[in-house]
Amino acid sequence: MASKGARILVASNRGPVSFALDETGALTAKRGGGGLVSGLSAIGPEADAVWVCSALSDADREAVRRSLDGRLPSDTTGGQRVRMLDIDARVHSDAYNGIANSVLWFVHHMLYQTPLEPVFDAEFRRQWASYEAYNRAFAEALAEEAADGAAVLVQDYHLTLVPRMLRELRPDLRIGHFSHTPWAPPEYFRMLPDDIRARLVWGMLGADRLGFLTWRWAHAFMQCAGEIDGDRIAVGVPGRPGEPGSIEHTDTGRPPLSTTWIGVHGLGADADFLRKRAHQPDVAERMNALRAEIGEGRKTIVRVDRTELSKNIVRGLLAYRELLETWPEWRERVVHVAFAYPSRQDLAVYREYTAEVQRVAEEINATYGTPGWTPVVLHVKDDFARSLAAYRLADVALVNPIRDGMNLVAKEVPVVSDEGCVLVLSREAGAYEELAEDAIAVNPYDVQGTAAALHTALTMPSGDRAEGTKRLADAATALPPTRWFLDQLEALETSG
Ligand code: G6P
Repeated sequence: MASKGARILVASNRGPVSFALDETGALTAKRGGGGLVSGLSAIGPEADAVWVCSALSDADREAVRRSLDGRLPSDTTGGQRVRMLDIDARVHSDAYNGIANSVLWFVHHMLYQTPLEPVFDAEFRRQWASYEAYNRAFAEALAEEAADGAAVLVQDYHLTLVPRMLRELRPDLRIGHFSHTPWAPPEYFRMLPDDIRARLVWGMLGADRLGFLTWRWAHAFMQCAGEIDGDRIAVGVPGRPGEPGSIEHTDTGRPPLSTTWIGVHGLGADADFLRKRAHQPDVAERMNALRAEIGEGRKTIVRVDRTELSKNIVRGLLAYRELLETWPEWRERVVHVAFAYPSRQDLAVYREYTAEVQRVAEEINATYGTPGWTPVVLHVKDDFARSLAAYRLADVALVNPIRDGMNLVAKEVPVVSDEGCVLVLSREAGAYEELAEDAIAVNPYDVQGTAAALHTALTMPSGDRAEGTKRLADAATALPPTRWFLDQLEALETSG
């Protein structure tokens, strides 16, 4: 099996395809987009890569049951080889909702309201056991699918334990792990029980190479790793040229030492795809509809997010309210176009957050709105064409996350903007590392500061705005998804 397997493998919780089941029992496949999908397309079909992912819904599970060992038929995947794992729904929910989204996501984005949470009790330990089982299911599937010496690219906090588990099953593989999120600073990471912290770090160190979106997150990981076991883990061994660092470790406490290289790959926007897609007729239609909602001659402050707790949508709305209070000359002359698309609605805290976004938007409209002017235009139904329409129209883009691995919206808006757009950007977004020079920086917690930044952005002369947008677009597209993916693959194949 192993010798006939794939030479390149990708593993992620969410795969490149999802299914829906209609009342007649027919399955329809929907293909997703994103950096990994276009990155993987760069290696061409002859590479025969396999993507291992998890079933996320009943329809996905049904698709797995109708397939041969979870290997999905290629007409549903656009030719991509996909192995979807039918992990027990309860185990998956504990691992995904319980540990990945309610613990690891919260730790890396620093989202806890610490007087009351987190609480690591028996229920946490039960969910952790599921997280281990779920990681093991991935490691076993990857071990089955990989050819001798294959390269495996494991994605994100869902699969932190996979590198070590897979190394134990298949020492011949080149294993990489990439974090699309921030990494917690050591003081925050220390909130986790000590054995869990160690499991997470040792899990990651099973990889030959760990990739991060920015130097800041890479260094945070190295600091956290340095606090685990000084006798067995030595951090900060100078990296090779182009690599920020490496970690030497031995889980037995004796030589030989293994090395895990640390790399930084700042995923950029896919300019060719975006520019083409943004000029399709459906986007033009959405632009007309949006213009009608906004009204003639008004400026727009646009934001487009999944309704994530880390995106800071509520403080964005409060900053906009502050703008209308402090600079009343903007009343009737500006509209805040906010798209907040549903995310992780299985979690009560996400549902409550979504409700709060709607409540604050309605309150602003009730307080300031006039018969001819709706101050906040909020849409909560995901529509990619409408997002692109808003990008093209935006005078100001508001990207103010509490903390964000990268934030691709900050990179996409300048690429498709028609007339140039001023970017108001949180200094806690990964994208800030690359875009700081031409963005207006904000502290995401400072609502008054954000309001002042919005005012500055709205008043920027159009020449400066167009020039700035050009520079932002250049920086935003420096590492397109295909290059981002190939760089990681090459670095993995030559590391060691
Ligand atoms: C964001 C993060 C990714 C993560 C994804 C999971 O996009 O940047 O790191 O993998 O969320 O989202 P999901 O909808 O699958 O929970």
